[in-house]
Amino acid sequence: GFFIFFLIKGWVRSVRAQKANLFLHVNDGSSLLSLQVVASSELNDPLLTFGSAVEVTGTLRKSPHQNQPVELEAQQIHVVGECNPVDFPFKIKERHGLEYIRQFPHLRCRTNAFSSLLRIRSEAATAVHSYFKENGFVQIHTPVITSNDCEGAGELFQVEPSGPQNEEEENFFSVPAFLTVSGQLHLEVMSGAFSRVYTFGPTFRAENSQSRRHLAEFYMVEAEVSFTQSLEDLTKVMEDMFRSATEHVLAHCAEDVDLFHKHVTPGHRVSPEGRLFNLAIDILNRSSEKFAFPTDWGCDLQTEHEKYLVKHCGNIPVFVTDYPYDLKPFYARDNQDHPEHTAAAVDLLVPGVGELCGGSLREERLDLLRARAGLEDTYSWYLDLRRFGSVPHGGFGLGFERYLQCILGVDNIKDVIPFPRFSHSCLL
Ligand code: 4AD
Repeated sequence: GFFIFFLIKGWVRSVRAQKANLFLHVNDGSSLLSLQVVASSELNDPLLTFGSAVEVTGTLRKSPHQNQPVELEAQQIHVVGECNPVDFPFKIKERHGLEYIRQFPHLRCRTNAFSSLLRIRSEAATAVHSYFKENGFVQIHTPVITSNDCEGAGELFQVEPSGPQNEEEENFFSVPAFLTVSGQLHLEVMSGAFSRVYTFGPTFRAENSQSRRHLAEFYMVEAEVSFTQSLEDLTKVMEDMFRSATEHVLAHCAEDVDLFHKHVTPGHRVSPEGRLFNLAIDILNRSSEKFAFPTDWGCDLQTEHEKYLVKHCGNIPVFVTDYPYDLKPFYARDNQDHPEHTAAAVDLLVPGVGELCGGSLREERLDLLRARAGLEDTYSWYLDLRRFGSVPHGGFGLGFERYLQCILGVDNIKDVIPFPRFSHSCLL
């Protein structure tokens, strides 16, 4: 055998007192696994309760049990922070549901389920950065405060200083400023000099929705690719990133993932069916399902339609492309060769969630952009991008929380972000 003098600092996940011995499981948050501590019952202390913080010193030795390689034979146990079991909302050995623990945003990281989730989230973020690094993308820190409304959907939060204002000053930035709804336009600026860029940061939308897939603050992964020829140049990146990130998470967080969901969807191949918006509309209209929203050409897909399409295609991710032109923002490229007026836009729909990514080729033709009302005045800088060394380009945005929901099978988006913000709720 071997003996190593060892100190562990962490939180008690279980306490079991037998005649001569005391057994504790201590967890320090680095993984789902807790270290088993064995102590003589003389070291027992009434303050050693589920959730209390401890420092244990002793010797690490090979464990006689098969399911744990080592255990700590304690010489000293110090309770650093007590945890009153009567008031603590989580009970030892009880499996609390995600909905229950959501009521305690300041305490829920102390549960196994939520701490696993946060480790998976952290690893998934690393996976996203690794994917882009390995594929030659340059990371751009796009601004959080901006004067543009990229999506034009009127979901902006305006930014103003709090406290007494200088009377003469109309507003702090002299122009209306907002929290970003998308870093796309800033990435488009960069795609005049870098052939592949991405950004990954907080995004804000004043969406008055209490749905289980919308937040007012969420993280978006956005990529922009220059010298594109068709939408395939984008769908390939979306599909590769989805698969590569998911494989990374499965390889690095197996125990955490297991706790969450026994059958995590690895990076499936995306269904070739229903790629065109036209076909998607056909599929919806041929179905016997009763939809609450219309499924006519020209109407946007609603969550119920997205879910049906995914199910119809065998419950695997589906691309829908070439949306009606009028449904998409000013930057989407006009598909002039199509009989219906469509835009070169694409959404990736996934099981359990619906829309995961939205993207498009960007309109690079200056005359077509100039024809769009108001653009010349508000976005003259955007038109400039098309005047100096402009190239065909396109990109997409992936909702990071929706990605986590999809791979883990988590029903509510509020359960995959440390501190959810949504209408009528901004706790902590
Ligand atoms: O489809 P969206 O609005 O696309 C854009 O903003 C583009 N400018 C991105 C780009 O091309 N660079 O948003 C992209 C994704 C959605 O597919 C969805 O997954 C997520 O962002 N998303 C939200 N996630 C959580 N809560 C919300 N309120 C969300 N709104 C969008």
